[in-house]
Amino acid sequence: MSYAQIIGWGYAVPSRIMTNHDLEKMVDTSDEWIRTRTGISERRIAGPKDTTGTLAIRAAQNALQVADLSPSKVDLIIVATCTPDHPMPAVASMVQDGLGASRAGAFDLNAACSGFVYALSVASGLIAGGLHERILVIGADTMSRLVDWSDRSTCILFGDGAGAVLLQRSESPTGLRAAVLGSDGSGLSSLYIPAGGSRLPLTPELVQNRRNCITMKGSEVYRFAVNAVTHATNQALSAAGLSIDDVDLFIPHQANIRIIQSAAKSLKIPPEKVYSNVQHYGNTSAASIPMALCEAVEEGRVHAGANLAIVGFGAGLSWGAAVVQWGVDTTPVPFSWWKSVVRNFHRREAVVRSFALRTQRRLDALRRMNGINEA
Ligand SMILES: CC(C)(COP(=O)(O)OP(=O)(O)OC[C@H]1O[C@@H](n2cnc3c(N)ncnc32)[C@H](O)[C@@H]1OP(=O)(O)O)[C@@H](O)C(=O)NCCC(=O)NCCS
Repeated sequence: MSYAQIIGWGYAVPSRIMTNHDLEKMVDTSDEWIRTRTGISERRIAGPKDTTGTLAIRAAQNALQVADLSPSKVDLIIVATCTPDHPMPAVASMVQDGLGASRAGAFDLNAACSGFVYALSVASGLIAGGLHERILVIGADTMSRLVDWSDRSTCILFGDGAGAVLLQRSESPTGLRAAVLGSDGSGLSSLYIPAGGSRLPLTPELVQNRRNCITMKGSEVYRFAVNAVTHATNQALSAAGLSIDDVDLFIPHQANIRIIQSAAKSLKIPPEKVYSNVQHYGNTSAASIPMALCEAVEEGRVHAGANLAIVGFGAGLSWGAAVVQWGVDTTPVPFSWWKSVVRNFHRREAVVRSFALRTQRRLDALRRMNGINEA
């Protein structure tokens, strides 16, 4: 029997911080309202050069660094996102090129804020089934690009970021122990973007009316979320043959501290076993769980053998919960100059490789054009 062990982890956020006080200057709100209703104090906002793809590449590079692995050893890249750089192609293909992961397949998965749990389940299944050896699972979103910055009920909630884990086949029974994935598509209009897809292609009028931005029925989503987190976590634990007492750390989707606290209370998980960083990042959609996982590791709250319960929920409506048994040592590896040289070499090699392939493509096109003209 094979298992998918997490051997690398990393995250990336844009440098720009937007505080609640900054939002006070943009919409009719207050720092006090936002903090008491959501627990959020600040969030990161993508700069002009940041995209879902660039954040995902940085997070993946950090995960590869922790695993001390060359990008050429990766077999598959899955990016969970609902804010791709383009409607097509997949962000995952940009990540493959940006990393120089020359042997990897790549695809995106859209389950909104539940995306990371979905992607982790898919990847673990592919590894356990013997199809792949190493898979990069990335949750990345730039929600700031889809927010209506004049709508105070949504713009205060979201932020941008990316988190990644690298899974590797292992004979030791660690990694995903159980997962529960769920969907209730009848709740589509509770949280969605009305225009910009095949149902309502964009027009200047739709953009002017901000129909290309996130629309949400906040209190409806709130009730759904508390319920979904509680039920899915219980189901995943029972599928893994574990009880609440076996959970060492609970890492829920970071949407709202009140949702996290209510769900933890009804699950009877004590506050010291609940991880939250929503105050610094807001809701980063598919990135929120892997980002929280990385920070929990940095803070020394994850150790080999620990049982982690992770749970996501969001648009769809969708939800997913998983129990992950952590399998590796989390002590930071001391800095090694030669490894840093090798890493920099791989990063430059990826840039050169991509440039060479693009140039080759242009030359081929020119040659074909000349051939046609001469004929
Ligand atoms: C959005 C949310 C914070 C709103 O909190 P709430 O307690 O439900 O607040 P309500 O929507 O009932 O609004 C209460 C009042 O605050 C006002 N309000 C809304 N946003 C506000 C803001 N940013 N600042 C000040 N007032 C605000 C409303 O207009 C309303 O005023 P009214 O009573 O005069 O009509 C909460 O519903 C929530 O977190 N929902 C889940 C959202 C979520 O997590 N979505 C992503 C899922 S992945």
